Amino acid sequence: MTMQPTASTSLISHSMAQPGLGSAPQTRGLRIALAGKGGAGKSAIAATLARTLARRGHSVLALDVDTLPGLAFSLGLPLDEASLGELPADLAERVPERGWVLKDGVEVVDLVKKYAVAAPDGVRFLQLGKLPDKVKPGSTVAFRYVMEEFRDENWSLIGDMAAGTRQPFFGWGDFAELILLVSEPSAKAVLSIRRLAKLAQPLPPAKKSKDTPSEETPSARPMVGIIANKLRSAAELAQMEQLFGAGPGWGGLPLLATLPYDEELAEAEREKYAPLDAVPFAPAVVAIQELAVRLEQFIGEQRQQQQQQQQAH
Ligand SMILES: Nc1ncnc2c1ncn2[C@@H]1O[C@H](COP(=O)(O)OP(=O)(O)O)[C@@H](O)[C@H]1O
Ligand SMILES: [Mg+2]
Repeated sequence: MTMQPTASTSLISHSMAQPGLGSAPQTRGLRIALAGKGGAGKSAIAATLARTLARRGHSVLALDVDTLPGLAFSLGLPLDEASLGELPADLAERVPERGWVLKDGVEVVDLVKKYAVAAPDGVRFLQLGKLPDKVKPGSTVAFRYVMEEFRDENWSLIGDMAAGTRQPFFGWGDFAELILLVSEPSAKAVLSIRRLAKLAQPLPPAKKSKDTPSEETPSARPMVGIIANKLRSAAELAQMEQLFGAGPGWGGLPLLATLPYDEELAEAEREKYAPLDAVPFAPAVVAIQELAVRLEQFIGEQRQQQQQQQQAH
């Protein structure tokens, strides 16, 4: 079945699921963040994922949280249109104790309605990481509330996070139920996702005592999966796994995709075309489309498991 926006979100035009591609089994949106070192491929993958999910019937909001924005291009938005997705500075204010927050009365749903730009395949795009020059430093932090508070379950959110290693787990990533750690084969990129994986370790469960048998705190941490990108050989993948250093199998984290190095994708992006438009049959582009289907399945299964665990308590 396809997903239809509810009346509250009819703001956002909806692309029909395209015949032949199949459609999404879920009725609830997917909330995914991509993190990893700069250059690893987050924006290219996020954009292709976002558009594939939209073609499969999801209502997708793509969020660029990187201070070096790249998502708009990879989605296929021309620069002048992409800049429309920037939020004006006067929506945020600095409040003692709390720091930068959205001003009183600024509703996140309205804000998405007003500022998200239409990208190909019906994806809506919002730029949160880079704001116009007049914006006071630090104020971008306020816009993480956009992600945290946009809770409409009919929507899938794809967040392209900043390269910095801490950001995904401190504020910005709170919206995500799944964080994809994206790495290319370089040692720096692998070490970067290794640090991120450590930050994402689930909190140890609260001690059970006989007085409080069911007080185990459910972990609020998101699920984490690995994407190995720009692979030129199987040996490179093995090397990455070794560098990651948590033993075989990426320390228990699922390896959700291995994407080949793809000169066609790189070339399309150099020319500022969305890979999905310019080279839809290029190997990495096909593999990312397959990843979108796998993610629907993976997240569906994880939700089911979580539900069963909750019921067991
Ligand atoms: N699988 C791939 N094969 C070849 N080039 C890729 C691949 N994935 C990404 N790239 C290229 O690598 C560069 C960095 O990708 P990008 O998505 O901008 O990374 P990030 O957003 O993580 O900084 C871009 O030029 C992009 O076109
Ligand atoms: Mg990027």
